[in-house]
Amino acid sequence: MKILLVGGGGREHAIACAISKSPKCTKLYCAPGNAGIAAIAECVPIGVMEFDKLVAFAKEKEIDFVVVGPDDPLVGGIVDEFENAGFRTFGPRKNAAILEGSKAFSKDLMKKYNIPTAAYETFDDAEKALEYLRTKADFPIVLKADGLALGKGVLICEDLAQAEAGVKEIMEDKKFGSAGNRMVIEEFMTGREVSVLSFVDGKTVKIMSSAQDHKRAGDGDTGLNTGGMGNFSPSPFYTKEVSDFCDKYIFQPTVDAMAAEGRPFHGVIFFGLMLTPKGPRVLEYNARFGDPEAQVVLPRLENDIVDVFEACIDGKLDQIDLKFSDNAAVCVVLASDGYPVKYEKGFPIEGLDKFEGRDDVFCFHAGTKFDDAGRIVTNGGRVLGVTALGADLKTARKNAYDATEWVSFENKYMRHDIGKAIDEA
Ligand code: AMP
Ligand code: GLY
Repeated sequence: MKILLVGGGGREHAIACAISKSPKCTKLYCAPGNAGIAAIAECVPIGVMEFDKLVAFAKEKEIDFVVVGPDDPLVGGIVDEFENAGFRTFGPRKNAAILEGSKAFSKDLMKKYNIPTAAYETFDDAEKALEYLRTKADFPIVLKADGLALGKGVLICEDLAQAEAGVKEIMEDKKFGSAGNRMVIEEFMTGREVSVLSFVDGKTVKIMSSAQDHKRAGDGDTGLNTGGMGNFSPSPFYTKEVSDFCDKYIFQPTVDAMAAEGRPFHGVIFFGLMLTPKGPRVLEYNARFGDPEAQVVLPRLENDIVDVFEACIDGKLDQIDLKFSDNAAVCVVLASDGYPVKYEKGFPIEGLDKFEGRDDVFCFHAGTKFDDAGRIVTNGGRVLGVTALGADLKTARKNAYDATEWVSFENKYMRHDIGKAIDEA
Protein backbone atom coordinates (compact mmCIF):
# COMPACT_ATOMS: atom_id res chain seq x y z
CA MET A 1 0.00 0.00 0.00
CA LYS A 2 1.05 3.55 -0.71
CA ILE A 3 0.09 5.50 2.39
CA LEU A 4 -0.24 9.26 2.90
CA LEU A 5 0.00 10.53 6.47
CA VAL A 6 -1.25 14.08 7.09
CA GLY A 7 0.50 16.07 9.84
CA GLY A 8 3.97 17.06 10.92
CA GLY A 9 4.43 16.85 14.68
CA GLY A 10 5.68 14.38 17.26
CA ARG A 11 2.41 12.48 17.13
CA GLU A 12 2.77 12.00 13.39
CA HIS A 13 6.39 10.88 13.82
CA ALA A 14 5.16 8.18 16.22
CA ILE A 15 2.33 7.20 13.83
CA ALA A 16 4.79 7.13 10.92
CA CYS A 17 7.11 4.79 12.88
CA ALA A 18 4.20 2.45 13.58
CA ILE A 19 3.06 2.49 9.93
CA SER A 20 6.57 1.91 8.62
CA LYS A 21 6.73 -1.32 10.66
CA SER A 22 3.75 -2.71 8.74
CA PRO A 23 4.61 -5.15 5.96
CA LYS A 24 1.54 -3.76 4.16
CA CYS A 25 3.19 -0.37 3.67
CA THR A 26 5.32 -0.19 0.54
CA LYS A 27 5.69 3.59 0.42
CA LEU A 28 4.94 6.25 3.03
CA TYR A 29 4.41 9.94 2.26
CA CYS A 30 3.91 12.57 4.94
CA ALA A 31 2.47 16.07 4.43
CA PRO A 32 4.12 18.22 5.57
CA GLY A 33 6.20 15.96 7.88
CA ASN A 34 9.36 17.23 9.56
CA ALA A 35 13.10 16.52 9.66
CA GLY A 36 12.66 13.38 11.77
CA ILE A 37 9.80 11.94 9.75
CA ALA A 38 11.95 12.46 6.64
CA ALA A 39 14.10 9.50 7.74
CA ILE A 40 11.19 7.07 7.27
CA ALA A 41 8.81 8.82 4.86
CA GLU A 42 8.94 11.08 1.85
CA CYS A 43 7.88 14.49 3.11
CA VAL A 44 5.70 16.64 0.87
CA PRO A 45 5.47 20.40 1.44
CA ILE A 46 1.68 20.68 1.63
CA GLY A 47 -0.05 22.11 4.70
CA VAL A 48 -2.62 20.10 6.65
CA MET A 49 -5.44 22.54 5.78
CA GLU A 50 -4.70 22.58 2.03
CA PHE A 51 -7.34 19.95 1.28
CA ASP A 52 -7.45 20.48 -2.51
CA LYS A 53 -3.68 20.15 -2.85
CA LEU A 54 -3.60 17.08 -0.59
CA VAL A 55 -6.32 15.34 -2.60
CA ALA A 56 -4.60 16.25 -5.88
CA PHE A 57 -1.33 14.84 -4.53
CA ALA A 58 -3.06 11.61 -3.47
CA LYS A 59 -4.52 11.25 -6.98
CA GLU A 60 -1.18 11.94 -8.63
CA LYS A 61 0.64 9.33 -6.51
CA GLU A 62 -2.26 6.83 -6.61
CA ILE A 63 -2.36 6.64 -2.81
CA ASP A 64 -4.15 3.57 -1.40
CA PHE A 65 -4.70 4.74 2.14
CA VAL A 66 -4.78 8.07 3.99
CA VAL A 67 -4.22 8.64 7.72
CA VAL A 68 -4.93 12.01 9.34
CA GLY A 69 -3.16 13.02 12.59
CA PRO A 70 -4.16 16.54 13.74
CA ASP A 71 -7.45 17.95 15.01
CA ASP A 72 -7.77 21.02 12.76
CA PRO A 73 -8.11 19.18 9.43
CA LEU A 74 -10.33 16.50 11.02
CA VAL A 75 -12.73 19.08 12.44
CA GLY A 76 -12.55 20.92 9.10
CA GLY A 77 -13.78 17.85 7.20
CA ILE A 78 -10.62 16.52 5.54
CA VAL A 79 -11.83 12.91 5.79
CA ASP A 80 -15.01 13.74 3.85
CA GLU A 81 -12.88 15.43 1.16
CA PHE A 82 -10.64 12.37 0.75
CA GLU A 83 -13.58 9.94 0.85
CA ASN A 84 -15.51 11.94 -1.73
CA ALA A 85 -12.46 11.62 -3.98
CA GLY A 86 -12.48 7.85 -3.46
CA PHE A 87 -9.68 7.39 -0.90
CA ARG A 88 -9.88 5.04 2.07
CA THR A 89 -9.14 7.34 4.98
CA PHE A 90 -8.52 6.73 8.68
CA GLY A 91 -10.13 9.36 10.90
CA PRO A 92 -13.60 10.64 11.80
CA ARG A 93 -15.76 12.47 9.27
CA LYS A 94 -16.64 16.09 9.97
CA ASN A 95 -19.98 15.20 11.56
CA ALA A 96 -18.16 12.98 14.09
CA ALA A 97 -15.01 15.07 14.64
CA ILE A 98 -17.36 17.68 16.16
CA LEU A 99 -16.95 15.58 19.32
CA GLU A 100 -13.68 17.50 19.70
CA GLY A 101 -14.56 20.52 17.56
CA SER A 102 -17.35 21.83 19.79
CA LYS A 103 -17.31 21.60 23.56
CA ALA A 104 -21.01 22.65 23.61
CA PHE A 105 -21.79 19.67 21.33
CA SER A 106 -19.85 17.21 23.46
CA LYS A 107 -21.32 18.48 26.73
CA ASP A 108 -24.87 18.27 25.34
CA LEU A 109 -24.16 14.74 24.11
CA MET A 110 -22.94 13.67 27.54
CA LYS A 111 -25.95 15.23 29.22
CA LYS A 112 -28.41 13.60 26.81
CA TYR A 113 -26.85 10.14 27.22
CA ASN A 114 -26.03 10.36 30.94
CA ILE A 115 -22.27 10.16 30.47
CA PRO A 116 -20.57 11.42 33.65
CA THR A 117 -19.02 14.88 33.28
CA ALA A 118 -18.91 18.26 35.06
CA ALA A 119 -22.19 20.22 35.33
CA TYR A 120 -22.25 23.10 32.83
CA GLU A 121 -24.12 25.85 31.00
CA THR A 122 -23.56 27.05 27.42
CA PHE A 123 -23.59 30.72 26.37
CA ASP A 124 -23.35 32.53 23.05
CA ASP A 125 -23.76 35.91 24.58
CA ALA A 126 -21.18 37.55 26.88
CA GLU A 127 -23.83 39.49 28.86
CA LYS A 128 -25.75 36.33 29.74
CA ALA A 129 -22.51 34.56 30.73
CA LEU A 130 -21.58 37.47 33.02
CA GLU A 131 -25.03 37.53 34.58
CA TYR A 132 -24.77 33.80 35.28
CA LEU A 133 -21.34 34.23 36.85
CA ARG A 134 -22.54 37.12 39.04
CA THR A 135 -25.69 35.43 40.30
CA LYS A 136 -25.39 31.63 40.14
CA ALA A 137 -21.76 30.52 40.02
CA ASP A 138 -19.61 28.80 42.63
CA PHE A 139 -15.86 29.39 42.49
CA PRO A 140 -13.43 28.20 41.29
CA ILE A 141 -15.20 27.80 37.97
CA VAL A 142 -14.02 26.73 34.51
CA LEU A 143 -14.53 28.70 31.28
CA LYS A 144 -14.04 26.92 27.95
CA ALA A 145 -14.04 28.37 24.46
CA ASP A 146 -16.38 26.19 22.40
CA GLY A 147 -14.05 25.51 19.47
CA LEU A 148 -10.46 24.39 18.88
CA ALA A 149 -7.86 26.53 20.63
CA LEU A 150 -4.62 24.49 20.54
CA GLY A 151 -5.50 23.02 23.95
CA LYS A 152 -5.33 26.52 25.44
CA GLY A 153 -8.98 27.64 25.46
CA VAL A 154 -9.67 26.56 29.05
CA LEU A 155 -9.51 29.08 31.89
CA ILE A 156 -9.78 28.11 35.55
CA CYS A 157 -11.05 31.13 37.46
CA GLU A 158 -10.66 31.47 41.22
CA ASP A 159 -13.11 34.34 41.69
CA LEU A 160 -15.63 36.56 39.94
CA ALA A 161 -13.04 39.12 38.84
CA GLN A 162 -10.98 36.45 37.05
CA ALA A 163 -14.10 34.98 35.49
CA GLU A 164 -15.23 38.39 34.21
CA ALA A 165 -11.81 38.93 32.68
CA GLY A 166 -12.02 35.42 31.16
CA VAL A 167 -15.37 36.09 29.49
CA LYS A 168 -13.89 39.25 28.00
CA GLU A 169 -10.82 37.37 26.70
CA ILE A 170 -12.82 34.54 25.16
CA MET A 171 -16.00 36.20 23.90
CA GLU A 172 -15.14 39.87 23.40
CA ASP A 173 -11.40 40.08 22.66
CA LYS A 174 -11.66 36.75 20.80
CA LYS A 175 -8.28 35.59 22.09
CA PHE A 176 -9.02 32.16 20.64
CA GLY A 177 -10.66 33.52 17.49
CA SER A 178 -14.04 32.17 16.42
CA ALA A 179 -13.57 29.29 18.90
CA GLY A 180 -14.84 31.86 21.41
CA ASN A 181 -18.17 32.65 19.71
CA ARG A 182 -19.71 30.29 22.22
CA MET A 183 -18.52 29.33 25.63
CA VAL A 184 -19.11 26.58 28.13
CA ILE A 185 -19.01 27.42 31.83
CA GLU A 186 -18.53 24.34 33.95
CA GLU A 187 -18.13 23.05 37.44
CA PHE A 188 -14.54 22.83 38.73
CA MET A 189 -13.54 19.25 39.49
CA THR A 190 -10.57 17.88 41.38
CA GLY A 191 -8.68 14.63 40.97
CA ARG A 192 -5.99 12.92 38.98
CA GLU A 193 -6.13 13.15 35.19
CA VAL A 194 -5.81 10.16 32.89
CA SER A 195 -5.71 10.08 29.08
CA VAL A 196 -7.32 7.02 27.55
CA LEU A 197 -7.01 6.56 23.79
CA SER A 198 -9.24 4.16 21.92
CA PHE A 199 -9.82 2.82 18.43
CA VAL A 200 -13.44 3.04 17.28
CA ASP A 201 -15.13 1.50 14.22
CA GLY A 202 -18.56 3.09 14.46
CA LYS A 203 -19.87 0.60 17.00
CA THR A 204 -17.00 -1.27 18.70
CA VAL A 205 -14.44 0.48 20.88
CA LYS A 206 -11.05 -1.01 21.82
CA ILE A 207 -9.09 0.73 24.54
CA MET A 208 -5.38 1.42 24.19
CA SER A 209 -3.01 1.56 27.13
CA SER A 210 -3.66 4.55 29.44
CA ALA A 211 -1.34 7.54 29.86
CA GLN A 212 -0.87 10.61 32.01
CA ASP A 213 0.01 13.95 30.46
CA HIS A 214 1.78 16.98 31.99
CA LYS A 215 0.10 20.01 30.47
CA ARG A 216 1.69 22.86 32.41
CA ALA A 217 4.96 24.38 31.23
CA GLY A 218 6.81 24.31 34.56
CA ASP A 219 7.94 21.81 37.17
CA GLY A 220 5.37 21.10 39.87
CA ASP A 221 2.54 21.79 37.40
CA THR A 222 3.17 25.52 37.40
CA GLY A 223 3.04 28.01 34.54
CA LEU A 224 0.87 28.11 31.47
CA ASN A 225 -0.97 25.25 29.80
CA THR A 226 0.91 23.77 26.85
CA GLY A 227 0.18 21.09 24.28
CA GLY A 228 1.90 18.64 26.68
CA MET A 229 5.42 18.59 28.17
CA GLY A 230 5.75 14.85 28.62
CA ASN A 231 3.86 11.83 29.84
CA PHE A 232 3.96 8.21 30.84
CA SER A 233 2.09 5.03 30.02
CA PRO A 234 0.42 3.08 31.53
CA SER A 235 -1.07 5.16 34.35
CA PRO A 236 -0.90 3.25 37.65
CA PHE A 237 -4.01 5.17 38.72
CA TYR A 238 -6.08 3.69 35.90
CA THR A 239 -6.99 0.63 37.95
CA LYS A 240 -9.23 -2.30 37.05
CA GLU A 241 -12.04 -0.68 39.03
CA VAL A 242 -11.69 2.62 37.14
CA SER A 243 -11.45 0.85 33.81
CA ASP A 244 -14.56 -1.25 34.51
CA PHE A 245 -16.51 1.90 35.40
CA CYS A 246 -15.33 3.69 32.24
CA ASP A 247 -16.14 0.72 29.99
CA LYS A 248 -19.68 0.66 31.31
CA TYR A 249 -20.52 4.35 31.74
CA ILE A 250 -18.18 6.28 29.42
CA PHE A 251 -16.49 4.48 26.51
CA GLN A 252 -19.22 2.33 24.95
CA PRO A 253 -21.97 4.84 25.84
CA THR A 254 -20.07 7.57 23.95
CA VAL A 255 -19.65 5.42 20.85
CA ASP A 256 -23.31 4.35 21.01
CA ALA A 257 -24.43 7.96 21.50
CA MET A 258 -22.54 9.10 18.39
CA ALA A 259 -24.09 6.28 16.36
CA ALA A 260 -27.56 7.08 17.71
CA GLU A 261 -27.09 10.72 16.67
CA GLY A 262 -26.34 9.62 13.09
CA ARG A 263 -22.66 10.52 13.54
CA PRO A 264 -20.91 7.13 13.64
CA PHE A 265 -17.34 7.65 14.82
CA HIS A 266 -14.52 5.88 12.97
CA GLY A 267 -11.02 6.68 14.20
CA VAL A 268 -9.42 7.44 17.54
CA ILE A 269 -11.39 8.81 20.48
CA PHE A 270 -9.15 10.22 23.17
CA PHE A 271 -11.00 10.36 26.49
CA GLY A 272 -9.57 13.03 28.80
CA LEU A 273 -10.73 11.82 32.22
CA MET A 274 -10.57 13.14 35.74
CA LEU A 275 -10.68 10.61 38.55
CA THR A 276 -12.78 12.65 41.00
CA PRO A 277 -13.75 11.59 44.52
CA LYS A 278 -17.19 10.80 43.04
CA GLY A 279 -15.74 8.61 40.31
CA PRO A 280 -14.33 9.10 36.79
CA ARG A 281 -15.69 12.08 34.81
CA VAL A 282 -15.04 13.17 31.22
CA LEU A 283 -13.00 16.40 31.02
CA GLU A 284 -12.94 16.45 27.25
CA TYR A 285 -12.99 14.34 24.13
CA ASN A 286 -10.43 14.53 21.36
CA ALA A 287 -11.05 13.00 17.95
CA ARG A 288 -7.44 11.87 17.33
CA PHE A 289 -4.33 10.48 18.94
CA GLY A 290 -2.91 12.70 21.70
CA ASP A 291 0.37 14.49 21.32
CA PRO A 292 2.52 13.33 23.15
CA GLU A 293 0.24 10.40 24.17
CA ALA A 294 0.92 8.72 20.82
CA GLN A 295 4.63 8.86 21.61
CA VAL A 296 4.23 6.63 24.70
CA VAL A 297 1.34 4.44 23.57
CA LEU A 298 2.26 3.52 19.98
CA PRO A 299 5.79 2.21 20.72
CA ARG A 300 4.06 -0.37 22.97
CA LEU A 301 1.44 -1.44 20.38
CA GLU A 302 2.06 -5.01 19.21
CA ASN A 303 -0.48 -5.14 16.37
CA ASP A 304 0.12 -4.10 12.78
CA ILE A 305 -1.36 -0.58 12.98
CA VAL A 306 -2.52 -0.66 9.36
CA ASP A 307 -4.69 -3.71 10.16
CA VAL A 308 -6.22 -1.78 13.06
CA PHE A 309 -6.81 1.32 10.91
CA GLU A 310 -8.54 -0.79 8.25
CA ALA A 311 -10.71 -2.54 10.83
CA CYS A 312 -11.85 0.86 12.14
CA ILE A 313 -12.95 1.90 8.66
CA ASP A 314 -14.62 -1.41 7.84
CA GLY A 315 -16.49 -1.89 11.12
CA LYS A 316 -14.42 -4.99 11.92
CA LEU A 317 -12.64 -3.94 15.07
CA ASP A 318 -14.29 -6.80 16.97
CA GLN A 319 -12.00 -9.11 14.99
CA ILE A 320 -8.82 -7.40 16.23
CA ASP A 321 -7.08 -8.62 19.35
CA LEU A 322 -5.50 -5.33 20.39
CA LYS A 323 -2.27 -5.93 22.31
CA PHE A 324 0.23 -3.75 24.15
CA SER A 325 3.60 -4.85 25.50
CA ASP A 326 3.69 -5.50 29.20
CA ASN A 327 6.20 -2.72 29.83
CA ALA A 328 6.14 1.05 30.33
CA ALA A 329 7.12 4.18 28.44
CA VAL A 330 8.00 7.72 29.47
CA CYS A 331 8.28 10.69 27.10
CA VAL A 332 10.04 13.93 28.03
CA VAL A 333 9.44 16.85 25.67
CA LEU A 334 12.42 19.02 24.81
CA ALA A 335 11.05 22.46 24.08
CA SER A 336 12.41 25.87 23.13
CA ASP A 337 12.86 28.01 26.24
CA GLY A 338 9.94 30.43 26.43
CA TYR A 339 7.33 28.03 25.02
CA PRO A 340 4.31 28.38 24.99
CA VAL A 341 4.64 32.17 24.74
CA LYS A 342 7.68 33.41 22.85
CA TYR A 343 10.80 31.57 21.81
CA GLU A 344 13.58 31.58 19.25
CA LYS A 345 14.04 28.85 16.68
CA GLY A 346 16.52 27.85 14.00
CA PHE A 347 19.19 26.40 16.37
CA PRO A 348 21.12 23.33 15.17
CA ILE A 349 20.39 20.11 17.09
CA GLU A 350 23.30 17.86 18.04
CA GLY A 351 23.31 14.22 19.11
CA LEU A 352 20.34 12.85 17.17
CA ASP A 353 22.49 10.05 15.71
CA LYS A 354 22.65 8.35 19.14
CA PHE A 355 19.02 7.25 18.68
CA GLU A 356 19.59 5.57 15.34
CA GLY A 357 18.88 1.86 15.24
CA ARG A 358 17.53 1.76 18.81
CA ASP A 359 14.24 0.03 19.59
CA ASP A 360 14.10 1.00 23.28
CA VAL A 361 14.72 4.75 23.06
CA PHE A 362 13.19 7.05 20.44
CA CYS A 363 13.55 10.68 19.56
CA PHE A 364 10.29 11.83 18.00
CA HIS A 365 10.57 15.14 16.17
CA ALA A 366 7.87 17.71 16.86
CA GLY A 367 9.23 21.03 15.60
CA THR A 368 12.32 20.49 13.47
CA LYS A 369 13.37 21.18 9.90
CA PHE A 370 16.41 21.12 7.64
CA ASP A 371 18.11 24.49 7.18
CA ASP A 372 19.69 25.61 3.92
CA ALA A 373 22.93 23.88 4.88
CA GLY A 374 21.06 20.58 5.40
CA ARG A 375 21.42 20.63 9.19
CA ILE A 376 18.50 19.70 11.43
CA VAL A 377 17.42 22.81 13.36
CA THR A 378 14.71 23.69 15.89
CA ASN A 379 11.49 24.88 14.31
CA GLY A 380 8.83 25.13 17.00
CA GLY A 381 7.91 25.37 20.65
CA ARG A 382 7.95 21.66 21.26
CA VAL A 383 11.06 20.45 19.43
CA LEU A 384 11.59 16.77 20.30
CA GLY A 385 9.93 14.07 22.38
CA VAL A 386 12.41 11.67 23.93
CA THR A 387 10.63 8.40 24.69
CA ALA A 388 12.18 5.44 26.48
CA LEU A 389 10.77 2.02 27.24
CA GLY A 390 11.49 0.11 30.42
CA ALA A 391 10.33 -2.97 32.25
CA ASP A 392 8.43 -0.68 34.61
CA LEU A 393 7.63 3.03 34.87
CA LYS A 394 10.59 3.93 37.08
CA THR A 395 13.06 2.27 34.73
CA ALA A 396 11.44 3.90 31.72
CA ARG A 397 11.64 7.29 33.45
CA LYS A 398 15.34 6.87 34.22
CA ASN A 399 16.04 5.74 30.65
CA ALA A 400 14.12 8.72 29.22
CA TYR A 401 15.88 11.30 31.38
CA ASP A 402 19.27 9.73 30.57
CA ALA A 403 18.49 10.01 26.88
CA THR A 404 17.47 13.68 27.15
CA GLU A 405 21.18 14.32 27.80
CA TRP A 406 22.14 12.87 24.43
CA VAL A 407 20.71 15.80 22.52
CA SER A 408 21.57 19.47 22.74
CA PHE A 409 20.45 22.74 21.19
CA GLU A 410 20.90 26.31 22.32
CA ASN A 411 17.64 27.07 24.16
CA LYS A 412 16.74 23.52 25.22
CA TYR A 413 14.07 23.47 27.95
CA MET A 414 12.35 20.56 29.66
CA ARG A 415 10.46 19.70 32.79
CA HIS A 416 12.44 17.66 35.31
CA ASP A 417 9.47 16.05 37.04
CA ILE A 418 7.75 14.09 34.28
CA GLY A 419 6.42 10.93 35.88
CA LYS A 420 6.85 12.18 39.46
CA ALA A 421 3.35 10.84 40.18
CA ILE A 422 4.74 7.32 39.66
CA ASP A 423 6.31 7.61 43.12
CA GLU A 424 2.90 8.26 44.64
CA ALA A 425 1.28 5.18 43.14
P1 AMP B 1 -9.40 20.37 28.39
O1 AMP B 1 -8.76 21.01 27.18
O2 AMP B 1 -10.87 20.48 28.41
O3 AMP B 1 -8.85 19.00 28.71
O4 AMP B 1 -8.87 21.23 29.62
C1 AMP B 1 -7.49 21.48 29.81
C2 AMP B 1 -7.14 21.24 31.25
O5 AMP B 1 -7.93 22.11 32.09
C3 AMP B 1 -7.49 19.84 31.72
O6 AMP B 1 -6.47 18.95 31.42
C4 AMP B 1 -7.66 20.07 33.20
O7 AMP B 1 -6.42 20.12 33.85
C5 AMP B 1 -8.29 21.44 33.27
N1 AMP B 1 -9.76 21.33 33.34
C6 AMP B 1 -10.63 21.28 32.32
N2 AMP B 1 -11.90 21.16 32.75
C7 AMP B 1 -11.83 21.15 34.10
C8 AMP B 1 -12.81 21.05 35.14
N3 AMP B 1 -14.12 20.99 34.89
N4 AMP B 1 -12.36 21.06 36.43
C9 AMP B 1 -11.05 21.15 36.70
N5 AMP B 1 -10.09 21.26 35.78
C10 AMP B 1 -10.46 21.25 34.49
N1 GLY C 1 -1.67 15.86 25.02
C1 GLY C 1 -2.98 16.37 24.95
C2 GLY C 1 -3.55 16.42 23.60
O1 GLY C 1 -3.05 15.87 22.65
O2 GLY C 1 -4.59 17.03 23.47
